[in-house]
Amino acid sequence: MTIPADFSFTEVDVDRLATAEGSIALLVPEDGRMSVPARRLNRLMKGALARFLEGDGFSKLKPGEAATLAWPTGLLARAVIVARVPARPSVSDAREAGAAIAKAAGQGPMTLLVPSARLRPAEAAYGLGLRAYAFDSHKTSDGKVPGPVEVQTPDPATAEEVFARYQAVMQGVFLTRNLVNEPANVLTTTEFANRLEALSSLGLGVEVLDEPELEELGMRALLAVGQGSESPSKVVVMQWRGGAEDEPPVAIVGKGVVFDTGGISIKPAQGMEEMTMDMGGAGVVAGLMKAVALRKAPVNVVGVVGLVENMPDGRAQRPGDIVRTMKGDTVEVINTDAEGRLVLCDILWYAQERFAPRAVVDLATLTGAIIIALGHENAGVFANDDKLAERLLTAAADEGEGAWRMPVGAPYDEQLKSDYADVKNVGGRPAGSITAAEFLRRFIKEGTPWAHIDIAGVARIKKDRGVFPKGATGWGVRTLDRLLDLLAEG
Ligand code: BES
Ligand code: MN
Ligand code: ZN
Repeated sequence: MTIPADFSFTEVDVDRLATAEGSIALLVPEDGRMSVPARRLNRLMKGALARFLEGDGFSKLKPGEAATLAWPTGLLARAVIVARVPARPSVSDAREAGAAIAKAAGQGPMTLLVPSARLRPAEAAYGLGLRAYAFDSHKTSDGKVPGPVEVQTPDPATAEEVFARYQAVMQGVFLTRNLVNEPANVLTTTEFANRLEALSSLGLGVEVLDEPELEELGMRALLAVGQGSESPSKVVVMQWRGGAEDEPPVAIVGKGVVFDTGGISIKPAQGMEEMTMDMGGAGVVAGLMKAVALRKAPVNVVGVVGLVENMPDGRAQRPGDIVRTMKGDTVEVINTDAEGRLVLCDILWYAQERFAPRAVVDLATLTGAIIIALGHENAGVFANDDKLAERLLTAAADEGEGAWRMPVGAPYDEQLKSDYADVKNVGGRPAGSITAAEFLRRFIKEGTPWAHIDIAGVARIKKDRGVFPKGATGWGVRTLDRLLDLLAEG
């Protein structure tokens, strides 16, 4: 399993540069002016760094890009990596520069020189750490182990303090990525629940509800999705109580379909392997809970995930079946591939009944239609509450995770009218992501602020981008962690 690199922060020590092993990375402001450590490196390299900075090698770099000077004379290091940054980099500028360095770096240890606090050492380290992830635990060769990173900077204590939270959140992001990247023969519902149960060692309360308990609770919609699978359906509840005793929690709810074949309404073979990521919402909930526990967040949060597998089988649910939800509403299942909403409706209801949360946020790889609407750049945000939606978009913008608000509203309900039940589970092709959100909104109690995030387009990407390596992105862990701060303001 891939784990974050080991980071340490120390004062700039130019006397150790000649013998530093692995790679030496350096942040250089746009004007190319050399800092004290840059001048020392340059002297050791017999002027090669200055020649690089004065030539078009440097001027051609866009801010946030990096170039490698390989096998430098005068140094033991294998490479010097130069990242160009604006004179006053923003949070995201510094993270992008860190990511570019990670992309350029080979294996082994790294010395990261951030010659002034203005260049944001903690942010650069965060970007580096987030990008230096690869899911290679199933490769029998080529396994990459991240080397230790020593960040040399004038005020290491302050940088280290800022980085402490990032380190916690990064562990959460990596948990999400590991879960989402894992194939479905490994990450069964039972294995998923076991990995969540292990989080109890961090101080989280973790409960696993099994099929008889879910039956007892009346979660027939969720159970119907999993009834064609050999893997038992499970609901896992994770609680972090870092806030005041009497403060109602924020509930974060996630779709955890460990594999989505479509069921009897089976999907085409082409690309079906991507449906290993259909537990992405539950993966984000898991990562967030790990992050809040590691950073001991002063808030009350409850995470609820529905873990099921959607398979075609003699016992699988059929198109036309009518099921009763925990809320009591009946649903006509027109298409067994619209299974995520059947899972979410029951756990959304359960989370509200049990915890009376002050806000509910759900995450799900819910619809292909959101990819048609927003591509892989933005998650779709649906909400019944403008303040919650605004805070969510602010949090996402602060973290550089794309998010875009979509509408909800009664007119779309027309598309969900069923001839035989209270509602049907699909609303046809027009506005496919919105009718999915409308379906969920039926299961939100009057007065409960709620947001639904459709992450089908962003949970996984095919090409590296910024701090996201290809594959699972962990999109949402950082945004939700930030959102909890904003919600704590009241
Ligand atoms: N898990 C899929 C949505 C999805 C598609 C996620 C592509 C990630 C990438 C979901 O369960 C699904 O199959 N949705 C259907 C709904 C339809 C039958 C109304 C879809 O989007 O086609
Ligand atoms: Mn589906
Ligand atoms: Zn699905």
